[in-house]
Amino acid sequence: MASRNLALCALIVAFFHVSLGQTPPKSEVLPEFLALLENHTVTQGRDVSFTCVVNHLQSYKVAWIKSDSRAILAIHTHMVAHNPRLSVTHNGHNTWKLHVTNVQPNDSGTYMCQVNTDPMRSQTGYMKVVIPPDIMDLDNTADMLTARENGDLLLRCRATGNPEPLVIWRREDGRNITLRNENSVKRTRTFEGEQLDLRAIQRQEMGSYLCIASNGVPPSVSKRYYVNVRFKPLIKVSNQLVAAPVDSDVLLQCYVESSPKALNTWYRNNGIKLLAGEKHNISEVTINDYAYQLNLTIRRLDKSDFGTYTCSAENAFGKAEGSIRLQVENLFRVSGRSPGTGPGTSSSTFRTDAIKRPKRCYVIRIMLHHSHCDRLDDFNSQLKQTLFRERVESYNYNEFSLLKDAHGGITIV
Ligand SMILES: *[C@@H]1O[C@H](CO)[C@@H](O)[C@H](O)[C@H]1NC(C)=O
Ligand SMILES: *[C@@H]1O[C@H](CO)[C@@H](O)[C@H](O)[C@H]1NC(C)=O
Ligand SMILES: *[C@@H]1O[C@H](CO)[C@@H](O)[C@H](O)[C@H]1NC(C)=O
Ligand SMILES: *[C@@H]1O[C@H](CO)[C@@H](O)[C@H](O)[C@H]1NC(C)=O
Ligand SMILES: *[C@@H]1O[C@H](CO)[C@@H](O)[C@H](O)[C@H]1NC(C)=O
Repeated sequence: MASRNLALCALIVAFFHVSLGQTPPKSEVLPEFLALLENHTVTQGRDVSFTCVVNHLQSYKVAWIKSDSRAILAIHTHMVAHNPRLSVTHNGHNTWKLHVTNVQPNDSGTYMCQVNTDPMRSQTGYMKVVIPPDIMDLDNTADMLTARENGDLLLRCRATGNPEPLVIWRREDGRNITLRNENSVKRTRTFEGEQLDLRAIQRQEMGSYLCIASNGVPPSVSKRYYVNVRFKPLIKVSNQLVAAPVDSDVLLQCYVESSPKALNTWYRNNGIKLLAGEKHNISEVTINDYAYQLNLTIRRLDKSDFGTYTCSAENAFGKAEGSIRLQVENLFRVSGRSPGTGPGTSSSTFRTDAIKRPKRCYVIRIMLHHSHCDRLDDFNSQLKQTLFRERVESYNYNEFSLLKDAHGGITIV
């Protein structure tokens, strides 16, 4: 502000002198800076220049000085410093520029534009050099990290940059990071720090982790680590008993968790391995990094297809098996009477007919027995379970009660 005012005064003085038609004495109009020297925040590798505007320089000279090192960089248009990245230009009038190309960290500091009056006049500007973050490759930190389940893993991410970068971790799929110590478990979306200590790691924590370094200087950088957790296979069979009518197709399913991926096989109870073909369609669907579903479709069931099937999964850490019993779905034995038709004596059948696939429609005929009408709730829940297993979506009932007979069949009384 002060120099601007001075410059303005100088202009006014000059105007009066001109209007009065007089030549000012040299000593009355000293060199004046027209603007402040800029401050620059510049990213390493970029180019930048300081601009110094001086009026009434007369025979004085403009010099550029790096104040902190007291090094004279240039005088007028003559370079003094032996630095190929520095240069000066003069526009032939009142503007001098100091250019710095490919800015380096040691270029930061105070720059001075100086005029050799006595006492000298000068202006200073500051250059701050910033560096975008970078992630250093730490030797022996592979991008792929592997631990046994319940083991520990330490993920490290060392970042450089100016200002000092902030390092955060998150899971690539957005799930929370689980942090355990002796007596607590904490789940957090992001974790701040150069080291991520995953203790007693579980299979659910398998997947990609990102460390992201940022310091306000674009671009931020990230590094991906794939965390692999290894364990013995596990098999879950949700339908251990599957009933299907002759001639239909049936789907048997096993749910497998395994890492590394297991070798999966289907067996009959006689130990014979099943091969994919016309009769048996074998497929697997991946659920996540370590879980998948095994499907075995058996086509056009005939009598010899009923029996026990085993799915097996084996990896370097062990083996798991699950078995499914496939039985003929046909008739349930039902005894009973209909309340409206007097005391019943006869046995009847509880027929289930597959009319349409894949959604099957069951025709259920039930006759109620005279004497046992007190187990409605029990029957109702069992019938529901049965129908649910068979994927029957709705049913109507009257008044039933249920007993299991000696052969495991369902008797409605
Ligand atoms: C440059 O920075 C200094 C110190 O922070 C400040 O006093 C000065 O006004 C700044 N110059 C400009 C042109 O903003
Ligand atoms: C500044 O750093 C650059 C690049 O690292 C180097 O070439 C140069 O010699 C350094 N200059 C000074 C004055 O230290
Ligand atoms: C994940 O962590 C955040 C806190 O960072 C928490 O608010 C949220 O409930 C957690 N989500 C789950 C599913 O644990
Ligand atoms: C198995 O079934 C799938 C889907 O139902 C089908 O795409 C595939 O071609 C079948 N494979 C064989 C060998 O029949
Ligand atoms: C396995 O069966 C399930 C349930 O019917 C089905 O959603 C899935 O697509 C099947 N997968 C394959 C590969 O056949």
